[in-house]
Amino acid sequence: MRRFSYNSSARCCSSISSARRRRCSFSARRRSPLSSARRRRASSDVAASNIAMVSASAASSHASFSVVSGLTSNSGGGGDGGGGDMKLSVVLLFSLVAVQAALLGAPSAKASGLKVGYYNKKCRGVEDVVKGHIIRAIKKNPRVGAALVGLVFHDCFVRGCDGSVLLDKSAQNPNPEKDAKANIGLAAFDILETIKANIEKKCPGVVSCSDILVYAARDATKILSKGHINYDVPAGRLDGLVSSASQADKELPDSTFTAQQLIKSFALKNFDVEELVILSGAHSIGMAHCSSFKGRLAAPADQITPAYRNLLNYKCDQSANPPVVNNVRDEDYTTVAKYMPGFKSRVRKTRDLFDNSYYHNNLARIVSFNSDWQLLTHTEARGHVHEYADNGTLWNEDFAASMVKLSMLSMPAGSKGGIRKKCSIVSY
Ligand code: HEM
Repeated sequence: MRRFSYNSSARCCSSISSARRRRCSFSARRRSPLSSARRRRASSDVAASNIAMVSASAASSHASFSVVSGLTSNSGGGGDGGGGDMKLSVVLLFSLVAVQAALLGAPSAKASGLKVGYYNKKCRGVEDVVKGHIIRAIKKNPRVGAALVGLVFHDCFVRGCDGSVLLDKSAQNPNPEKDAKANIGLAAFDILETIKANIEKKCPGVVSCSDILVYAARDATKILSKGHINYDVPAGRLDGLVSSASQADKELPDSTFTAQQLIKSFALKNFDVEELVILSGAHSIGMAHCSSFKGRLAAPADQITPAYRNLLNYKCDQSANPPVVNNVRDEDYTTVAKYMPGFKSRVRKTRDLFDNSYYHNNLARIVSFNSDWQLLTHTEARGHVHEYADNGTLWNEDFAASMVKLSMLSMPAGSKGGIRKKCSIVSY
Protein backbone atom coordinates (compact mmCIF):
# COMPACT_ATOMS: atom_id res chain seq x y z
CA MET A 1 0.00 0.00 0.00
CA ARG A 2 1.56 3.29 -1.08
CA ARG A 3 0.71 6.08 1.30
CA PHE A 4 2.42 8.72 -0.79
CA SER A 5 4.40 8.82 -3.93
CA TYR A 6 7.92 9.45 -2.83
CA ASN A 7 10.19 11.73 -4.73
CA SER A 8 13.63 10.75 -3.61
CA SER A 9 15.01 14.19 -4.32
CA ALA A 10 12.35 15.78 -2.11
CA ARG A 11 14.25 15.75 1.14
CA CYS A 12 12.77 18.94 2.47
CA CYS A 13 9.66 18.64 4.57
CA SER A 14 8.04 21.69 3.02
CA SER A 15 7.82 20.17 -0.43
CA ILE A 16 5.86 17.08 0.41
CA SER A 17 2.36 15.75 0.90
CA SER A 18 0.37 16.60 4.00
CA ALA A 19 0.75 13.04 5.34
CA ARG A 20 4.50 13.30 5.21
CA ARG A 21 4.48 16.83 6.53
CA ARG A 22 2.71 15.51 9.62
CA ARG A 23 5.47 12.91 9.89
CA CYS A 24 8.15 15.56 9.49
CA SER A 25 6.73 17.72 12.24
CA PHE A 26 6.44 14.75 14.58
CA SER A 27 8.86 15.44 17.34
CA ALA A 28 7.60 14.45 20.76
CA ARG A 29 8.66 11.02 21.94
CA ARG A 30 5.63 9.12 23.05
CA ARG A 31 4.97 6.00 25.03
CA SER A 32 2.79 4.84 22.15
CA PRO A 33 5.44 5.08 19.49
CA LEU A 34 3.53 5.44 16.27
CA SER A 35 3.89 8.12 13.63
CA SER A 36 0.71 9.01 11.81
CA ALA A 37 1.46 6.70 8.91
CA ARG A 38 2.51 3.80 11.07
CA ARG A 39 -0.39 4.39 13.40
CA ARG A 40 -2.66 3.79 10.42
CA ARG A 41 -0.87 0.56 9.66
CA ALA A 42 -0.83 -0.57 13.27
CA SER A 43 -4.54 0.10 13.63
CA SER A 44 -5.20 -2.55 11.01
CA ASP A 45 -2.91 -4.90 12.92
CA VAL A 46 -4.77 -4.16 16.12
CA ALA A 47 -8.06 -4.67 14.32
CA ALA A 48 -6.83 -8.03 13.10
CA SER A 49 -5.57 -8.93 16.50
CA ASN A 50 -8.93 -7.90 18.03
CA ILE A 51 -10.65 -10.16 15.55
CA ALA A 52 -8.22 -12.86 16.52
CA MET A 53 -9.00 -12.28 20.18
CA VAL A 54 -12.68 -12.87 19.39
CA SER A 55 -11.81 -16.08 17.62
CA ALA A 56 -9.57 -17.16 20.43
CA SER A 57 -12.22 -16.53 23.05
CA ALA A 58 -14.72 -18.40 20.90
CA ALA A 59 -12.40 -21.35 21.22
CA SER A 60 -11.97 -20.71 24.96
CA SER A 61 -8.65 -18.84 24.55
CA HIS A 62 -5.33 -20.25 23.44
CA ALA A 63 -4.43 -21.42 26.89
CA SER A 64 -7.21 -23.98 26.85
CA PHE A 65 -6.76 -25.26 23.30
CA SER A 66 -6.16 -28.98 23.26
CA VAL A 67 -3.50 -29.49 25.87
CA VAL A 68 -1.47 -32.62 25.33
CA SER A 69 1.12 -33.46 27.98
CA GLY A 70 1.80 -29.82 28.74
CA LEU A 71 1.97 -28.74 25.10
CA THR A 72 -0.51 -26.43 23.53
CA SER A 73 -1.52 -26.48 19.91
CA ASN A 74 -2.32 -23.09 18.49
CA SER A 75 -4.29 -24.62 15.67
CA GLY A 76 -7.46 -24.12 17.62
CA GLY A 77 -8.65 -27.38 16.25
CA GLY A 78 -9.30 -29.22 19.47
CA GLY A 79 -12.42 -27.57 20.82
CA ASP A 80 -14.45 -29.90 22.93
CA GLY A 81 -17.41 -28.76 21.08
CA GLY A 82 -20.86 -28.48 22.42
CA GLY A 83 -23.57 -28.95 19.86
CA GLY A 84 -23.23 -28.98 16.08
CA ASP A 85 -24.50 -25.38 15.90
CA MET A 86 -21.71 -24.26 18.16
CA LYS A 87 -19.13 -26.08 16.02
CA LEU A 88 -20.57 -24.50 12.90
CA SER A 89 -20.48 -21.01 14.32
CA VAL A 90 -16.87 -21.45 15.46
CA VAL A 91 -15.93 -22.68 11.99
CA LEU A 92 -17.72 -19.71 10.45
CA LEU A 93 -16.02 -17.35 12.84
CA PHE A 94 -12.59 -18.76 12.02
CA SER A 95 -13.29 -18.43 8.29
CA LEU A 96 -14.37 -14.85 8.82
CA VAL A 97 -11.27 -14.16 10.84
CA ALA A 98 -9.03 -15.63 8.16
CA VAL A 99 -10.66 -13.59 5.40
CA GLN A 100 -10.67 -10.37 7.40
CA ALA A 101 -7.13 -10.81 8.63
CA ALA A 102 -5.97 -11.45 5.08
CA LEU A 103 -7.77 -8.33 3.91
CA LEU A 104 -6.21 -6.28 6.67
CA GLY A 105 -2.76 -7.59 5.94
CA ALA A 106 -2.31 -8.54 9.59
CA PRO A 107 0.99 -10.17 10.62
CA SER A 108 -1.11 -13.13 11.67
CA ALA A 109 -4.43 -13.57 13.34
CA LYS A 110 -2.67 -16.20 15.45
CA ALA A 111 -1.07 -13.36 17.37
CA SER A 112 -4.17 -13.77 19.51
CA GLY A 113 -3.74 -13.82 23.23
CA LEU A 114 -0.66 -11.57 23.16
CA LYS A 115 -1.12 -8.59 25.36
CA VAL A 116 0.83 -5.83 27.03
CA GLY A 117 1.21 -6.68 30.71
CA TYR A 118 0.42 -10.35 30.06
CA TYR A 119 2.37 -11.45 33.15
CA ASN A 120 1.02 -8.77 35.51
CA LYS A 121 -1.00 -11.36 37.42
CA LYS A 122 0.74 -14.56 36.28
CA CYS A 123 4.26 -13.55 37.35
CA ARG A 124 4.30 -10.09 38.82
CA GLY A 125 7.40 -8.02 38.14
CA VAL A 126 8.80 -10.26 35.44
CA GLU A 127 9.49 -7.36 33.06
CA ASP A 128 11.48 -5.63 35.81
CA VAL A 129 13.49 -8.80 36.41
CA VAL A 130 14.41 -8.96 32.70
CA LYS A 131 15.22 -5.26 32.62
CA GLY A 132 17.47 -5.51 35.66
CA HIS A 133 19.43 -8.35 34.08
CA ILE A 134 19.81 -6.51 30.77
CA ILE A 135 21.00 -3.29 32.40
CA ARG A 136 23.66 -5.23 34.32
CA ALA A 137 24.64 -7.38 31.35
CA ILE A 138 25.13 -4.38 29.04
CA LYS A 139 27.14 -2.58 31.73
CA LYS A 140 29.40 -5.61 31.97
CA ASN A 141 29.60 -6.27 28.25
CA PRO A 142 28.14 -3.63 25.92
CA ARG A 143 28.16 -6.17 23.03
CA VAL A 144 25.16 -7.91 24.58
CA GLY A 145 22.70 -5.18 23.57
CA ALA A 146 23.29 -5.40 19.81
CA ALA A 147 23.38 -9.18 20.01
CA LEU A 148 19.89 -9.23 21.54
CA VAL A 149 18.47 -6.95 18.85
CA GLY A 150 19.95 -9.19 16.14
CA LEU A 151 18.72 -12.28 17.96
CA VAL A 152 15.08 -11.22 18.18
CA PHE A 153 15.03 -10.54 14.43
CA HIS A 154 16.48 -13.96 13.70
CA ASP A 155 14.03 -15.64 16.06
CA CYS A 156 10.89 -13.89 14.86
CA PHE A 157 11.60 -14.07 11.13
CA VAL A 158 11.80 -17.87 11.22
CA ARG A 159 8.67 -19.68 12.49
CA GLY A 160 7.58 -16.55 14.36
CA CYS A 161 8.79 -15.44 17.78
CA ASP A 162 8.90 -18.88 19.39
CA GLY A 163 12.43 -19.10 20.78
CA SER A 164 13.32 -21.59 18.03
CA VAL A 165 16.68 -19.87 17.52
CA LEU A 166 17.57 -20.54 21.15
CA LEU A 167 17.49 -24.34 20.87
CA ASP A 168 20.74 -26.30 20.96
CA LYS A 169 21.63 -29.23 18.77
CA SER A 170 20.29 -32.50 20.23
CA ALA A 171 20.04 -36.17 19.32
CA GLN A 172 16.48 -35.51 18.10
CA ASN A 173 17.50 -32.37 16.23
CA PRO A 174 21.08 -32.33 14.91
CA ASN A 175 20.56 -29.19 12.75
CA PRO A 176 18.81 -26.45 14.72
CA GLU A 177 18.55 -22.81 13.58
CA LYS A 178 21.63 -21.92 15.63
CA ASP A 179 23.73 -23.85 13.10
CA ALA A 180 22.37 -22.04 10.05
CA LYS A 181 24.85 -20.13 7.90
CA ALA A 182 22.55 -17.12 8.21
CA ASN A 183 22.92 -17.23 11.97
CA ILE A 184 26.65 -16.56 12.05
CA GLY A 185 27.60 -14.30 14.91
CA LEU A 186 24.46 -14.70 17.01
CA ALA A 187 25.20 -14.27 20.70
CA ALA A 188 23.68 -13.47 24.11
CA PHE A 189 22.21 -16.96 24.54
CA ASP A 190 23.83 -17.31 27.96
CA ILE A 191 22.29 -14.15 29.37
CA LEU A 192 18.82 -15.32 28.29
CA GLU A 193 19.41 -18.67 29.96
CA THR A 194 20.45 -16.93 33.17
CA ILE A 195 17.35 -14.76 33.13
CA LYS A 196 15.16 -17.77 32.45
CA ALA A 197 16.70 -19.71 35.37
CA ASN A 198 15.98 -16.79 37.71
CA ILE A 199 12.43 -16.41 36.50
CA GLU A 200 11.82 -20.17 36.80
CA LYS A 201 12.71 -19.90 40.50
CA LYS A 202 10.17 -17.13 40.93
CA CYS A 203 7.38 -18.48 38.68
CA PRO A 204 8.02 -22.03 37.49
CA GLY A 205 6.56 -22.95 34.11
CA VAL A 206 4.93 -19.58 33.49
CA VAL A 207 7.15 -17.31 31.38
CA SER A 208 8.23 -18.40 27.90
CA CYS A 209 11.78 -17.98 26.57
CA SER A 210 10.35 -16.27 23.50
CA ASP A 211 8.75 -13.59 25.68
CA ILE A 212 11.98 -13.17 27.66
CA LEU A 213 13.86 -12.60 24.39
CA VAL A 214 11.31 -10.06 23.14
CA TYR A 215 11.47 -8.17 26.47
CA ALA A 216 15.27 -8.34 26.54
CA ALA A 217 15.60 -6.96 22.99
CA ARG A 218 13.14 -4.20 23.83
CA ASP A 219 15.13 -3.24 26.94
CA ALA A 220 18.44 -3.39 25.06
CA THR A 221 16.99 -1.12 22.38
CA LYS A 222 15.89 1.38 25.00
CA ILE A 223 19.23 1.35 26.79
CA LEU A 224 21.33 1.67 23.62
CA SER A 225 19.12 4.46 22.27
CA LYS A 226 19.42 6.32 25.59
CA GLY A 227 15.70 6.00 26.11
CA HIS A 228 14.68 7.39 22.73
CA ILE A 229 13.30 4.11 21.42
CA ASN A 230 10.76 3.18 24.01
CA TYR A 231 7.85 0.83 23.54
CA ASP A 232 5.50 -1.52 25.30
CA VAL A 233 5.45 -4.98 23.82
CA PRO A 234 2.70 -7.57 24.11
CA ALA A 235 3.50 -11.01 25.53
CA GLY A 236 1.97 -14.45 25.97
CA ARG A 237 4.02 -16.38 23.41
CA LEU A 238 4.68 -20.09 23.60
CA ASP A 239 8.07 -21.66 22.95
CA GLY A 240 8.14 -23.82 19.84
CA LEU A 241 9.31 -27.40 19.40
CA VAL A 242 10.75 -27.10 15.91
CA SER A 243 14.06 -25.51 14.92
CA SER A 244 15.60 -26.05 11.51
CA ALA A 245 18.87 -24.67 10.13
CA SER A 246 17.71 -25.09 6.55
CA GLN A 247 14.50 -23.18 7.24
CA ALA A 248 16.50 -20.34 8.79
CA ASP A 249 18.80 -20.21 5.76
CA LYS A 250 15.77 -20.16 3.48
CA GLU A 251 13.80 -17.48 5.30
CA LEU A 252 16.40 -15.05 6.61
CA PRO A 253 17.56 -12.38 4.16
CA ASP A 254 21.18 -12.62 3.04
CA SER A 255 23.62 -9.72 3.07
CA THR A 256 24.28 -10.31 -0.65
CA PHE A 257 20.59 -9.80 -1.55
CA THR A 258 19.43 -7.29 -4.14
CA ALA A 259 16.74 -4.74 -3.28
CA GLN A 260 14.11 -6.91 -4.96
CA GLN A 261 15.17 -9.99 -2.99
CA LEU A 262 15.06 -8.02 0.26
CA ILE A 263 11.63 -6.64 -0.54
CA LYS A 264 10.35 -10.12 -1.35
CA SER A 265 11.87 -11.60 1.80
CA PHE A 266 10.21 -8.94 3.98
CA ALA A 267 6.92 -9.08 2.06
CA LEU A 268 6.70 -12.79 2.86
CA LYS A 269 6.53 -11.76 6.51
CA ASN A 270 4.07 -8.95 5.75
CA PHE A 271 6.57 -6.08 6.00
CA ASP A 272 6.55 -3.38 3.34
CA VAL A 273 9.42 -1.46 1.77
CA GLU A 274 9.28 1.27 4.37
CA GLU A 275 9.45 -1.24 7.21
CA LEU A 276 12.39 -2.95 5.52
CA VAL A 277 14.20 0.39 5.53
CA ILE A 278 13.15 1.16 9.10
CA LEU A 279 14.31 -2.18 10.50
CA SER A 280 17.57 -2.10 8.55
CA GLY A 281 18.42 0.94 10.70
CA ALA A 282 19.36 -1.63 13.36
CA HIS A 283 22.68 -1.83 11.54
CA SER A 284 23.73 1.38 13.28
CA ILE A 285 24.89 -0.97 16.05
CA GLY A 286 26.70 -4.27 16.39
CA MET A 287 29.27 -6.18 14.43
CA ALA A 288 29.61 -8.35 11.35
CA HIS A 289 32.09 -11.00 10.29
CA CYS A 290 34.20 -10.15 7.25
CA SER A 291 32.66 -13.10 5.42
CA SER A 292 29.32 -11.26 5.58
CA PHE A 293 30.58 -8.40 3.45
CA LYS A 294 33.60 -9.71 1.54
CA GLY A 295 31.82 -9.26 -1.82
CA ARG A 296 31.43 -5.54 -1.06
CA LEU A 297 35.18 -5.12 -0.85
CA ALA A 298 35.37 -5.44 -4.62
CA ALA A 299 32.43 -3.09 -5.31
CA PRO A 300 33.04 0.10 -7.32
CA ALA A 301 33.67 3.45 -5.63
CA ASP A 302 30.12 4.71 -6.19
CA GLN A 303 28.89 1.83 -4.01
CA ILE A 304 31.45 1.91 -1.21
CA THR A 305 33.66 4.83 -0.25
CA PRO A 306 37.24 3.76 -1.08
CA ALA A 307 38.64 4.97 2.26
CA TYR A 308 36.05 2.86 4.08
CA ARG A 309 36.84 -0.10 1.88
CA ASN A 310 40.52 0.26 2.78
CA LEU A 311 39.63 0.38 6.45
CA LEU A 312 37.53 -2.79 6.15
CA ASN A 313 40.30 -4.54 4.21
CA TYR A 314 42.77 -3.64 6.92
CA LYS A 315 40.45 -4.89 9.67
CA CYS A 316 39.71 -8.15 7.84
CA ASP A 317 43.44 -8.84 7.37
CA GLN A 318 44.02 -8.88 11.14
CA SER A 319 42.85 -12.48 11.66
CA ALA A 320 40.72 -15.19 10.09
CA ASN A 321 37.24 -13.77 9.46
CA PRO A 322 37.16 -11.35 12.40
CA PRO A 323 34.04 -9.43 13.39
CA VAL A 324 34.18 -5.72 12.51
CA VAL A 325 31.89 -2.98 13.86
CA ASN A 326 28.92 -2.09 11.65
CA ASN A 327 29.21 1.62 12.35
CA VAL A 328 32.55 3.24 11.58
CA ARG A 329 32.12 5.67 14.47
CA ASP A 330 32.46 2.62 16.78
CA GLU A 331 35.85 1.79 15.25
CA ASP A 332 39.04 2.40 17.20
CA TYR A 333 40.37 5.93 16.92
CA THR A 334 43.79 5.02 15.49
CA THR A 335 42.31 3.04 12.62
CA VAL A 336 39.84 5.79 11.76
CA ALA A 337 42.58 8.42 11.98
CA LYS A 338 44.65 6.42 9.51
CA TYR A 339 41.98 5.49 6.96
CA MET A 340 39.22 8.06 7.37
CA PRO A 341 40.79 11.09 9.10
CA GLY A 342 37.79 13.24 8.24
CA PHE A 343 35.73 10.97 10.44
CA LYS A 344 37.94 11.20 13.55
CA SER A 345 35.66 13.61 15.40
CA ARG A 346 32.77 11.17 15.09
CA VAL A 347 34.51 8.29 16.84
CA ARG A 348 32.71 7.66 20.12
CA LYS A 349 33.88 6.40 23.47
CA THR A 350 30.64 4.49 24.05
CA ARG A 351 29.90 2.03 21.30
CA ASP A 352 26.53 0.96 19.93
CA LEU A 353 24.57 4.16 20.26
CA PHE A 354 21.26 3.24 18.65
CA ASP A 355 20.15 6.08 16.40
CA ASN A 356 19.51 6.98 12.76
CA SER A 357 23.20 7.23 11.85
CA TYR A 358 22.77 4.14 9.63
CA TYR A 359 20.91 6.28 7.11
CA HIS A 360 23.65 8.93 7.02
CA ASN A 361 26.26 6.20 6.68
CA ASN A 362 24.31 4.56 3.89
CA LEU A 363 24.04 7.81 1.92
CA ALA A 364 27.79 8.33 2.45
CA ARG A 365 28.44 4.76 1.16
CA ILE A 366 29.97 3.66 4.45
CA VAL A 367 27.84 0.64 5.28
CA SER A 368 29.25 -2.84 5.16
CA PHE A 369 26.53 -5.06 3.64
CA ASN A 370 25.56 -5.15 0.00
CA SER A 371 21.94 -5.43 1.27
CA ASP A 372 22.30 -2.04 3.00
CA TRP A 373 23.64 -0.33 -0.09
CA GLN A 374 20.96 -1.99 -2.23
CA LEU A 375 18.31 0.13 -0.48
CA LEU A 376 19.67 3.10 -2.42
CA THR A 377 19.00 1.38 -5.73
CA HIS A 378 15.23 1.25 -5.21
CA THR A 379 13.32 4.52 -5.59
CA GLU A 380 10.91 4.15 -2.69
CA ALA A 381 13.50 2.61 -0.36
CA ARG A 382 16.01 5.34 -1.19
CA GLY A 383 13.34 7.93 -0.42
CA HIS A 384 12.86 6.43 3.03
CA VAL A 385 16.62 6.35 3.62
CA HIS A 386 16.64 10.12 3.02
CA GLU A 387 13.55 10.55 5.15
CA TYR A 388 15.03 8.77 8.16
CA ALA A 389 18.42 10.43 7.73
CA ASP A 390 16.58 13.75 7.93
CA ASN A 391 14.36 12.90 10.86
CA GLY A 392 15.85 10.85 13.67
CA THR A 393 12.83 11.31 15.92
CA LEU A 394 10.55 9.88 13.28
CA TRP A 395 12.87 6.90 12.91
CA ASN A 396 12.85 6.30 16.68
CA GLU A 397 9.04 6.21 16.60
CA ASP A 398 8.77 4.08 13.50
CA PHE A 399 11.49 1.68 14.57
CA ALA A 400 9.63 1.08 17.83
CA ALA A 401 6.39 0.37 15.96
CA SER A 402 8.14 -1.99 13.54
CA MET A 403 9.79 -3.86 16.42
CA VAL A 404 6.37 -4.37 18.01
CA LYS A 405 5.10 -5.70 14.69
CA LEU A 406 8.16 -7.95 14.31
CA SER A 407 7.57 -9.32 17.79
CA MET A 408 3.99 -10.25 16.88
CA LEU A 409 5.04 -12.72 14.18
CA SER A 410 3.56 -15.99 15.31
CA MET A 411 4.27 -19.67 14.82
CA PRO A 412 2.93 -21.39 11.71
CA ALA A 413 -0.69 -22.45 12.07
CA GLY A 414 -1.03 -25.76 13.85
CA SER A 415 2.35 -25.56 15.58
CA LYS A 416 2.63 -26.86 19.09
CA GLY A 417 4.29 -24.94 21.87
CA GLY A 418 4.73 -24.71 25.59
CA ILE A 419 6.82 -23.04 28.27
CA ARG A 420 10.33 -24.50 28.24
CA LYS A 421 12.16 -25.10 31.50
CA LYS A 422 15.43 -24.16 29.81
CA CYS A 423 15.67 -22.01 26.69
CA SER A 424 18.23 -24.16 24.93
CA ILE A 425 16.40 -27.48 25.11
CA VAL A 426 12.89 -28.69 24.44
CA SER A 427 11.99 -29.28 28.07
CA TYR A 428 8.47 -29.04 29.45
C1 HEM B 1 17.42 -6.38 5.80
C2 HEM B 1 17.93 -7.57 5.86
C3 HEM B 1 19.05 -7.91 6.78
C4 HEM B 1 20.21 -8.50 6.44
C5 HEM B 1 20.59 -9.00 5.05
C6 HEM B 1 21.00 -8.58 7.63
C7 HEM B 1 22.25 -9.15 7.69
C8 HEM B 1 23.09 -9.10 8.78
C9 HEM B 1 24.40 -9.67 8.84
C10 HEM B 1 25.06 -10.46 7.71
C11 HEM B 1 24.92 -9.38 10.04
C12 HEM B 1 26.30 -9.77 10.56
C13 HEM B 1 26.40 -11.24 10.91
C14 HEM B 1 27.84 -11.60 11.18
O1 HEM B 1 28.60 -11.66 10.21
O2 HEM B 1 28.20 -11.78 12.36
C15 HEM B 1 23.94 -8.61 10.76
C16 HEM B 1 24.14 -8.09 12.01
C17 HEM B 1 23.15 -7.47 12.72
N1 HEM B 1 21.84 -7.29 12.33
FE1 HEM B 1 21.10 -7.61 10.48
N2 HEM B 1 20.33 -8.03 8.66
C18 HEM B 1 19.12 -7.59 8.20
C19 HEM B 1 18.12 -7.02 8.95
C20 HEM B 1 18.20 -6.80 10.30
C21 HEM B 1 17.08 -6.44 11.13
C22 HEM B 1 15.65 -6.31 10.64
C23 HEM B 1 17.56 -6.29 12.39
C24 HEM B 1 16.85 -5.94 13.66
C25 HEM B 1 15.72 -5.31 13.71
C26 HEM B 1 18.98 -6.53 12.33
C27 HEM B 1 19.84 -6.38 13.38
C28 HEM B 1 21.18 -6.68 13.34
C29 HEM B 1 22.08 -6.41 14.43
C30 HEM B 1 21.75 -5.70 15.73
C31 HEM B 1 23.32 -6.91 14.04
C32 HEM B 1 24.60 -6.92 14.88
C33 HEM B 1 24.52 -8.14 15.79
C34 HEM B 1 25.69 -8.26 16.74
O3 HEM B 1 26.49 -7.36 16.84
O4 HEM B 1 25.78 -9.31 17.39
N3 HEM B 1 19.32 -6.88 11.05
N4 HEM B 1 22.82 -8.48 9.98
